[in-house]
Amino acid sequence: MAYNLLKGKKGIIFGALDNKSIAWKVAERAFEEGATFTLSNTPTALRFGELNELAERTGATIIPADATSVSDLENVFKTSMEVMGGQVDFVLHSIGMSLNVRKKRVYNDLNYDFLMKTLDISAVSFHKMLQIAYRLDAISRGGSVVALSYVAAQRTHYGYNDMADAKALLESIARSFGYIYGREKGVRVNTVSQSPTMTTAGSGVKGINALMDFTDRMSPLGNADAAECADYCITLFSDLTRKVTMQNLFNDGGFSSMGMSLKAMTMYNKSLECDCDKPGSSLIED
Ligand SMILES: NC(=O)c1ccc[n+]([C@@H]2O[C@H](COP(=O)([O-])OP(=O)(O)OC[C@H]3O[C@@H](n4cnc5c(N)ncnc54)[C@H](O)[C@@H]3O)[C@@H](O)[C@H]2O)c1
Repeated sequence: MAYNLLKGKKGIIFGALDNKSIAWKVAERAFEEGATFTLSNTPTALRFGELNELAERTGATIIPADATSVSDLENVFKTSMEVMGGQVDFVLHSIGMSLNVRKKRVYNDLNYDFLMKTLDISAVSFHKMLQIAYRLDAISRGGSVVALSYVAAQRTHYGYNDMADAKALLESIARSFGYIYGREKGVRVNTVSQSPTMTTAGSGVKGINALMDFTDRMSPLGNADAAECADYCITLFSDLTRKVTMQNLFNDGGFSSMGMSLKAMTMYNKSLECDCDKPGSSLIED
């Protein structure tokens, strides 16, 4: 159902790759709610992805950019303002990638060049966007910027690797820049910490299927899917959340407040019935 929550608002959406992407769902919902926006992703993603179809359906202009490149990002903000005729009202940062994860380098054996790439793509790019937008005065007073995060920023999650460090940095940037952007120009900056979700990036997370089953059993409301994440982002772009800023907001069915649930404990008890402690059945990997 649409409520016209973004009627007349303009935005920039980074990170829609295919129809499983969280950013894709945000774009669809933003369109339904009356927004106009531009879409951005890397030239490679544009070649392999299906973004043209989404752009045609939503009337969006596609602007290629590597989010680690300041000049590319400047071009996205300048072109977006040209195309849409003035400042934008919302920006979505939905970007993450770790070469250590891709190349199966575990956390106690990181490649540091890869680590710098992880941090640059997944976190510093958020600072770059904010700094460029601030300098160009590209976001209107009352505007809203959201980046997507994960609970591994606060709590250790087996196998999430250096992306945990990237998410911790991302959330810190939201607070630090959120203070300045709020104080000087009345712009909100938040992160949404989303449940594990079956997307291209999500499927790179070690043991994603079992992880999703576990978090679903642990969360009183179950996992939030990509469409539910999009709904939440829309509220943050809308005028209904005008005083929400510098927050990391969990959209995770309650997972982040749980210690143990009945459903998860039931499965754990069942697993104890197997012979897991016998020699040679060690699960230690990283
Ligand atoms: N899927 C999950 O389980 C989950 C959970 C919590 C948070 N998140 C976060 O949500 C965000 C979106 O991920 P998703 O799950 O929709 O997966 P996705 O793979 O659909 O999106 C990731 C996007 O990052 C883009 N990207 C990678 N390198 C880039 C670069 N250098 N410049 C610009 N863009 C680049 C990719 O092209 C892709 O569009 C990420 O920040 C991810 O960490 C995902």
